[in-house]
This record gives sequence, structure tokens and C-alpha cells, in this order.
Amino acid sequence: MQVKKINISYEEYGEDEKLLSPDMDLIEEAVVALSGSYAPYSEFHVGAALLLSNGKIVRGSNQENAAYPSGLCAERVALFYASSQYPNETVVSLAITGKSDHFTTTDPITPCGSCRQVIAETEKKQGSEIRVIMKGEKGVARIVEGIDSLLPMVFHEEKLKKSKK
Ligand code: THU
Repeated sequence: MQVKKINISYEEYGEDEKLLSPDMDLIEEAVVALSGSYAPYSEFHVGAALLLSNGKIVRGSNQENAAYPSGLCAERVALFYASSQYPNETVVSLAITGKSDHFTTTDPITPCGSCRQVIAETEKKQGSEIRVIMKGEKGVARIVEGIDSLLPMVFHEEKLKKSKK
């Protein structure tokens, strides 16, 4: 038996450190997306914004439902919309932010496990990594270059085929 380690890396911008453009612009788009959030149950609003290779911005926000599992996260709303509307464009980067009706978010808003899986599928499909920019209303911002840093040992389509080993 061996104990093995996986290293992940991310950029962290301090509370008073300004993000560089176009990351800053994309976070601002994610803030705009918050206004479309429908979250009467969790009272937690998530906004996501994608920058596509054609320069277009796609926004998404969480959409909840009285039958809870029928709702969808902001990131997947944006990613599925982009894939439907612009199937030939690449997703360059994805910004995520969130706010509560009850408190100020001070930690970066990170994608849930299911959204990470969909980001992984999008990367696989387009053959390039997605820059993920995560921020709360206040506090540090974190950025990863590709989903590997958020979802090590990912399940992807090759696992559906017989291993060559
Ligand atoms: N949510 C997102 O939109 N994205 C995430 O990655 C985490 C969670 C939403 C789902 C639900 O509407 C609310 O936040 C509380 O979980």
C-alpha cells in the first residue's frame, strides 16, 4: 500500500485586491445574474456567468422548485443554455457568486458536486479547460484553471469503455 497525494493549485485574490479584467467583468456579470435567481426555499441566490469564445456572455441563476430536486443550480442553468444555444462555442471561463437573504457571504461560492461534473463534461466535450472564478459578496476570490483542481479523479466518458490496461 502507498499513500499518494494530489496537489491542486488556485489563485487567491485578497479582499482588497482587485481582480484583473476579464475576470472582474465576469464576476460583475454573475452579480447581475443574481437578479434572475428564483430561490424562495433556500433564500440563497447564486449567479453564474460564462464567457464564450465568440465573446458572448451567458448568465444563469439558481431556479428552485417546491419539489426540491426539480430545481437547478446557476452554473448548470448557464452551461446547459450555452450548450443549447451556442453548441459550437467554447466556454472560456465561468464566474460564480452568491448571496443570502439573511447574511453576507464572505467565502467564495464554489460549485456543487453535480455542477463540477457538468463543468468536467463541458471541458471534455470542447477539449479545453475552463477558468472558474469564485467569489462571495465580500472576502477573497479564488480562481482555478480547469476542473481538475476542483474535481480530482473525475468520472469521465473514458470510464465507460473497457480499460486498455
Ligand atoms: N446552488 C447553486 O446554484 N450552485 C451551486 O453550486 C451550489 C448551490 C443553489 C442550489 C439551491 O437553489 C441553493 O443554491 C441552495 O443550495
